[in-house]
Amino acid sequence: MVKLKEVWKVFPDGTKALKGVSLEVAKGEFVGIMGPSGSGKSTLLHIVGGLDRPTSGEVYLMGRDISSLSEEDLVRLRKGKVAYIFQFYYLLEDFTVLENLTIIGEILGVERPEEKASELLEFLRLDHRKNHKPHQLSGGEQQRVAIGRALIGDPELILADEPTGNIDWAEGRKIFDLFKKLNREKGITFLVATHNPDLKDYFNRIVYLKDGEIAGS
Ligand SMILES: Nc1ncnc2c1ncn2[C@@H]1O[C@H](COP(=O)(O)OP(=O)(O)OP(=O)(O)O)[C@@H](O)[C@H]1O
Ligand SMILES: [Mg+2]
Repeated sequence: MVKLKEVWKVFPDGTKALKGVSLEVAKGEFVGIMGPSGSGKSTLLHIVGGLDRPTSGEVYLMGRDISSLSEEDLVRLRKGKVAYIFQFYYLLEDFTVLENLTIIGEILGVERPEEKASELLEFLRLDHRKNHKPHQLSGGEQQRVAIGRALIGDPELILADEPTGNIDWAEGRKIFDLFKKLNREKGITFLVATHNPDLKDYFNRIVYLKDGEIAGS
């Protein structure tokens, strides 16, 4: 699903965020990326998903070498198949919960997007909130909307960056239980960055980053 070979990321100001990272993630894995603040977790996820390009090294996504793809081909490759979940949910504030999912479904060319959005909201226990606007929801509920939005294109890979960083422990556990369920039942591969050691037991495998290098796994 994902393969990195000797990936370096040096930002224009000279910061070396990744220093020769090599990593392979097979389909169906549930992998944690852990390490202190500034160790390169977000940078790694951005590069895996093609949101940012490495300074050097090779990046393969679903079998394709993405370093040589044009922006257009990259967008086409990951469209719907790779989804992101962030710490801040980035929902469309002027639209309802249902619309937040439906709009993305339309963009992705999903068949009957509103029906699919409704089904997902039921699955996410958000049925009773579908006509609300994001600001009327709790943090955990907003994150579940963001998860719904990530799921509407039937992704094969979900990249999550501190997905429970803004919600309390009990709600965070529920989000991780949901991830596990999606991993088991739908075979979705997960790469989850977190610095919360309490979530360790959820992962099949943990990759530890330190100062831009893999410090163990
Ligand atoms: N656009 C940028 N320009 C310069 N340096 C950057 C940029 N983005 C990130 N960095 C630096 O790269 C390093 C890795 O950052 P990154 O955001 O990947 O860390 P992280 O492990 O996700 O940290 P956190 O746990 O705080 O989210 C840090 O030193 C950060 O300051
Ligand atoms: Mg980060």
